[in-house]
Amino acid sequence: MTYIVTGGAGFIGSNFIFYMRSAHPDDRIVCLDKLTYAGNLSTLKSVMDDPHFRFVKLDICDREGVYALFEEEKPDAVINFAAESHVDRSIENPSIFLETNIIGTSVLMDACRIFGNIRYHQVSTDEVYGDLPLDRPDLFFTEETPIHTSSPYSSSKAGADLLVLAYKRTYGLPVTISRCSNNYGPYHFPEKLIPLMIINCLHDKPLPVYGEGLNVRDWLYVEDHCKAIDLVLQKGRIGEVYNIGGHNEMRNIDIVRLICAELHKPESLITHVTDRKGHDMRYAIDPTKIHNELGWLPETKFENGIRQTIAWYLSHEDWWSEIISGEYQNYYQVMYANR
Ligand code: NAD
Ligand code: TYD
Repeated sequence: MTYIVTGGAGFIGSNFIFYMRSAHPDDRIVCLDKLTYAGNLSTLKSVMDDPHFRFVKLDICDREGVYALFEEEKPDAVINFAAESHVDRSIENPSIFLETNIIGTSVLMDACRIFGNIRYHQVSTDEVYGDLPLDRPDLFFTEETPIHTSSPYSSSKAGADLLVLAYKRTYGLPVTISRCSNNYGPYHFPEKLIPLMIINCLHDKPLPVYGEGLNVRDWLYVEDHCKAIDLVLQKGRIGEVYNIGGHNEMRNIDIVRLICAELHKPESLITHVTDRKGHDMRYAIDPTKIHNELGWLPETKFENGIRQTIAWYLSHEDWWSEIISGEYQNYYQVMYANR
């Protein structure tokens, strides 16, 4: 099998490539990535010389380039991780989210149609369901929950999901969609909550918690997400959506306190800053469908996963210090200086 994995130089895509290389060593992976600010070639250095792996620097919106690659590689399946992925950036500049997340998805699926009705998997998010109230812990997102987005990011991902289902119905493209909750683990870009708080803690810098920090996210270790996508790819029913999440809801403030405790830093570093516009209150996945149909269950408990993740950041300072010394400085200034 040859898989085209888009966005493989980012957080989840790179972890997926590592997982697939060890789970299916005979399969070939072609990673297509534009290398935006979020993509890092250094992340892929352990597979760069692997004969079953190829890296191609390409924009998923570049129709000519994408078609040429499909013609050359004749992939059996495409797994689309490539996206603009940060909600705060989407609030500042929505248009690139619409381009990459919606137009890019359509270019990839057109290529799948033209080059032989190729199997297509869309990596989506629970954020397409909007949010749940804090006072209704009995409510969870199922695959039947209506799409009801809050941010330009989630709207662009929802637009892509609708397009994927339309390509199934209109052209008969063999598609699946997975909608996962928040991931954490190695190679997570330090603009996101967990790596940002770990790195700020290590520098004794303020820990910027939006609002009261009572918002709830449903955290899943990235490898568990990768395993779930592999299962959907191998055994999922065509045209179906699968929610992925491990019933691990936590308030932001509790995550930040835990990181302080693990790193022996004082909670006085915590600084409450102006809330995110349109901030979703709670995400919570009901994973019954993927469990019943495909037998998926998360394997990493949060208390272990977060320790492993902190240990990874402690031992990979070379990876993140290069990131935070560059353009990230300007980003941090714009986002947090007057907050
Ligand atoms: P990320 O921002 O870490 O990585 C995105 C990757 O896509 C980068 O390597 C970037 O260079 C590449 N990319 C961006 N625009 C591109 C383009 N036009 N053409 C080719 N490559 C491009 O993102 P992530 O956190 O790894 O998320 C991966 C996917 O998973 C996204 O589709 C996201 O919506 C989805 N998702 C993420 C989470 C999460 O918690 N991080 C949860 C659920 C779903
Ligand atoms: P994030 O990692 O950006 O993921 P998402 O918005 O996709 O869930 O943020 C997770 C939660 O943490 C979210 O409720 C916003 C909050 N947050 C902060 O409080 N401070 C921060 O500096 C960041 C980046 C996020």
